[in-house]
Amino acid sequence: QGEPVAVKIDADKPGAKIDRHLFGQFAEHLGRGVYEGVWVGPDSPIPNTRGIRNDVVAALKELRVPNVRWPGGCFADEYHWRNGIGPQAERPATLNPNWGGVIEPNTFGTHEFMDFVQQIGAEAYISVNVGSGTPHEAADWFEYMTTDQPTTLAKQRAANGHPEPYGISFMGIGNESWGCGGSMTPEQYVSQLRIYARYTRNYNAKHPTLKIAVGPDTADTGYTEAVMKAWKERNWSWDIDGLSLHYYTVGGGWPPKFDATGFGPKEYAALVKHTLRMNELLNTHVAIMDRYDPEKKIALVVDEWGSWLAPTPGSKEGFLEQQNSIRDAVIAALNINMFARKADRVRIANIAQMVNVLQAMILTERDKLVLTPTYHVFHMYVPFQDATFLPVTFDAGSYVNGDITLPQLDAIAAKGKDGKTWLALTNVDPSAPAQVELTSRAKRAVGRVLSAPKVDSVNTFDAPNAVAPKSLEAKARAGKINLKLPPHSVAVVALEE
Ligand code: AHR
Repeated sequence: QGEPVAVKIDADKPGAKIDRHLFGQFAEHLGRGVYEGVWVGPDSPIPNTRGIRNDVVAALKELRVPNVRWPGGCFADEYHWRNGIGPQAERPATLNPNWGGVIEPNTFGTHEFMDFVQQIGAEAYISVNVGSGTPHEAADWFEYMTTDQPTTLAKQRAANGHPEPYGISFMGIGNESWGCGGSMTPEQYVSQLRIYARYTRNYNAKHPTLKIAVGPDTADTGYTEAVMKAWKERNWSWDIDGLSLHYYTVGGGWPPKFDATGFGPKEYAALVKHTLRMNELLNTHVAIMDRYDPEKKIALVVDEWGSWLAPTPGSKEGFLEQQNSIRDAVIAALNINMFARKADRVRIANIAQMVNVLQAMILTERDKLVLTPTYHVFHMYVPFQDATFLPVTFDAGSYVNGDITLPQLDAIAAKGKDGKTWLALTNVDPSAPAQVELTSRAKRAVGRVLSAPKVDSVNTFDAPNAVAPKSLEAKARAGKINLKLPPHSVAVVALEE
């Protein structure tokens, strides 16, 4: 071990607010994400409130989930909202062709989703169907949800149990319209966008809805240019507030081949390298947005991100089930740090996906639940929600594995809403601990560190706490606080003066 890494927080140069909506979740009708993961039905022996699992709600409440994106994903562009309202026994059984071709019972619809977000204290992010729906259908859905006038749709909503209009914070106008959402060219999408952004109205004046356009797939700049140009040239009749970016950490080509467990430092390094590409993508798309929108009115919304690995052996095809290791925890922290550094433009993000799908917070099996290492990172980062970014200087060093070189250390800091200064540190190196020496007026650093014995350590139903945060505390000596970070670990500490 060499010299400790010198870290200093520049409290005099506060940056942008790290919007709490960067910590958003995504719940698609996909595999066991909604059915089983959230919805078990009121008659289930699994404890529930109006059909929604109590254990999942309790765990998500701890994360202060700011918003949940629903119903997809690719599913959104084949979803017809009228199938999901009214008496559950009378709802049609439809198909979910994107994800295993299973039956979609439509028991979890608009009212159940809104009940769920209210139970966990989150806001709603609804994606409307552009691919196979109509502007009329989308406009009706928003009228149904948001008007307080006694229209036929509002009366229907009241008859279905909710006289008060709902508040919807975000509206996604389509999903991946360049792919599963209709294979549209940028120009085709923009002509749809103008129509949907005009006619899909929020009528709840007490609760504004931000409209989010489909944006780029990874590095492709076609949608970024076309949507931003159209926005710049817009007239009074339509507007948007955000542009979406989707980027998954896959590690190689499609279909995803990286195993979620049983891997070593080589695969760890390859996947971390792939996740860090997010920074290059943010730079690319932010630069284009800055040309059209130097005032940064339009948010870059990373509403699908996370690791997409080879499916759990034996899991159902198309269900996208994967284990979640300390590698995912490191990936989560690095991505949040990249978003936070660009918080003036990146203001909303949704990890894919919340329960039982891809890089999940929670895995369930019948009545059992496991919190993943990624869950713990989101929990440790709660003080960063709506905190003010503070620049940190440090030498990131390097971790080398074969032909891959990664930064050894990553760090962000912020002034929390609680008035405290918070520091998040990630030791990317899976082979050695990192020593950090923080120069600070603080008397001590107090927080938690998430580490694990092996680079592929996971939590299982038999050993649910194999990867769990431990307390981390260090006192200042002569204006320096020394912290030791285990290999492949994430730490978040408050600096107490
Ligand atoms: O999150 C899984 C899928 O990935 C989503 O449905 C789609 O939008 C993306 O391709």
